[in-house]
Amino acid sequence: MARAGGKVILFGEHGVVYGRPALAAGLSTGATAELLSAPGLTTARLTVDPWGVTVDALAPDASTHALAASTNQLALAFGAIVAAYEQPPALHVKVKMELPSGAGLGGSAALSVAIVRAFDEALGIARSPSEAADIALRAERVFHGNPSGVDTAMAAAGGVAVYRKGQPLQPVQAKQRITLVVGHSGEPGMTKETVASVARQHAQRPEKVEQIFAGMEAIVNNGKRALERGDLVSLGQLMELNQKLLVTLVLSTPRLEEMCTVAVKAGALGSKLTGGGGGGCMIALVSDAESGKAVQEALQKLGREAFVTMV
Ligand code: MEV
Repeated sequence: MARAGGKVILFGEHGVVYGRPALAAGLSTGATAELLSAPGLTTARLTVDPWGVTVDALAPDASTHALAASTNQLALAFGAIVAAYEQPPALHVKVKMELPSGAGLGGSAALSVAIVRAFDEALGIARSPSEAADIALRAERVFHGNPSGVDTAMAAAGGVAVYRKGQPLQPVQAKQRITLVVGHSGEPGMTKETVASVARQHAQRPEKVEQIFAGMEAIVNNGKRALERGDLVSLGQLMELNQKLLVTLVLSTPRLEEMCTVAVKAGALGSKLTGGGGGGCMIALVSDAESGKAVQEALQKLGREAFVTMV
């Protein structure tokens, strides 16, 4: 059984697509992959639970008009992983997703890394986490268009780390574990669309957007130091600041805003959306498990799904 974890971005989403750093934390939940017996198979096959979908790997130039758009995308993403192998593996891999897709929690990256690990195990290939992440990134490009690579790097390595495009992950020695509440807006995350929207804003007003990214970079650097000191109050304030910058780029939604406000009213030290935005999830930093429960219940009262996690 191969596995890979999801992630939450504590600070720096979107700026990371433009070469700025992001600070992320791996989640213990993600995706598990196992190989099914498939005698006589001539091409790689993927089944995803609980989506109830089975696809055969598709080459990038394959004719795909017969497939539904989401199935087509999955088959192409899977095909991009398969094509990375010198000898394309004719294996049937079944992946069990433990995270909702389109939530901004790195579910698709966990799926891709788990597949790479399952294939590597079966084929006796030894690969470093960053090499596995590089292959998974080919699939992320199909899912997300222009990914920074933070999700695949975190899915392959876990822990708490600063990521900068094209550079090795920089692990962060947090002084203590931190407790987060993750709340799902119930609106599908729109990473591909929000990344494209930021690209349009960047093309129109590069100085303004770069200034916002510079602010995010400062937040990442201060956030790293606050984690190393175990300074939860500063971490919470930095989350609030980061959220304001994300709002400036029109990445939040009224529902995410409401959830952030309610979380802070219920005792959170700070909160923000996490991942691509435009829907998906928010995170709230809390001082302990008890406070986490209060924030979780406040979000659930709004009708939102929420869970408490430690990173
Ligand atoms: C990653 O979870 C969210 C974005 O930063 C996109 C990316 O880094 O690929 C918005």
